[in-house]
Amino acid sequence: MTKDTLILGIETSCDETAVAIVKNGTEIISNVVASQIESHKRFGGVVPEIASRHHVEQITHVLEEAFKGSQVTWDEIDAIAVTEGPGLVGALLVGVNSAKALAFAKQKPLVGVHHIAGHIYANRLEKEFQFPLLALIVSGGHTELVLMREHGSYELIGETRDDAAGEAYDKVARMLNLPYPGGPHIDRLAEIGEETIDFPRAWLEDGSYDFSFSGLKSAVINKIHNAKQRGETLKNEDIAASFQASVVEVLTAKTLRAAKEYNVSQVIVAGGVAANKGLRKELKAAFGKTDIPLLIPNMKLCTDNAAMIAAAGTIAFEAGRRSGMDLNANASLLLK
Ligand code: KG4
Ligand code: ZN
Repeated sequence: MTKDTLILGIETSCDETAVAIVKNGTEIISNVVASQIESHKRFGGVVPEIASRHHVEQITHVLEEAFKGSQVTWDEIDAIAVTEGPGLVGALLVGVNSAKALAFAKQKPLVGVHHIAGHIYANRLEKEFQFPLLALIVSGGHTELVLMREHGSYELIGETRDDAAGEAYDKVARMLNLPYPGGPHIDRLAEIGEETIDFPRAWLEDGSYDFSFSGLKSAVINKIHNAKQRGETLKNEDIAASFQASVVEVLTAKTLRAAKEYNVSQVIVAGGVAANKGLRKELKAAFGKTDIPLLIPNMKLCTDNAAMIAAAGTIAFEAGRRSGMDLNANASLLLK
């Protein structure tokens, strides 16, 4: 019998301080997330300085919490995996420096992990991967289509040229005076609203798997301004439903087309926007008509956490990848 691999994961790229322990890249032993949403709410978005300060305050408590009740001791940990980027540089640095200090003190190997690889590997905590695999990553900072032919290999086939999907949700929500983060509020309103406004769909040039949401965001803002000037009232729920219809249609159509073109064996969805009811429904309907299995993980694994970093870190660790004590935070790290 081969020995189990136990990886400690650390994630501090944005507004969640998270530490987790994962066994063999597939089984969560502990997964602790301290969210800062309440602190950022009154500013209508994440304030980088505040995020870094919170991470510094939280990291040791979250680390202790991850060991508590896990029945795992430091001796059993094989390596420490940490998000090295992309994200807010000051926030990332807290995780990277904590991981380096722990690796040095406990004499453990250190493995830097790309945040998006983490989001992808969140799915493997629920189901084994089948290659080739297509991943749609939709979060506050990312909108990407990634093709994987094997573990640890990432080919970016499409990405947003401007705003991320979640960012567009949050900006439109702000226009409608909804609290931060706005995605879940738009989702809730969209459910009761009707698609009465024909907002644009950014298909971009023929064959492109890239996305663009800033034109749609501007169209929503213009619509609201024009209606105000004319003294017309638009229902928030109808704006939400019309906006969401545009986002969901483009995400679903491009994911489906890419899945067919690359003849994938599995499609996975990751990131905070994967929680969107409209998107889940459309993706399920579209892939239900094909024989390509679709996997959308439960909410807790869709949003930022450290179990996903430990899961991705396991693959890198097993492939022999190691980071040195010169590991640095990289706000714009590329996925490769
Ligand atoms: O993955 P995540 O937790 O953090 C990032 O790495 O960005 O994603 C957060 C984003 C926010 O923009 C939030 O508004 C969006 O995910 N979000 C949603 C929903 N739940 C969260 N967007 C649309 N519908 C939802 N139900
Ligand atoms: Zn994320």
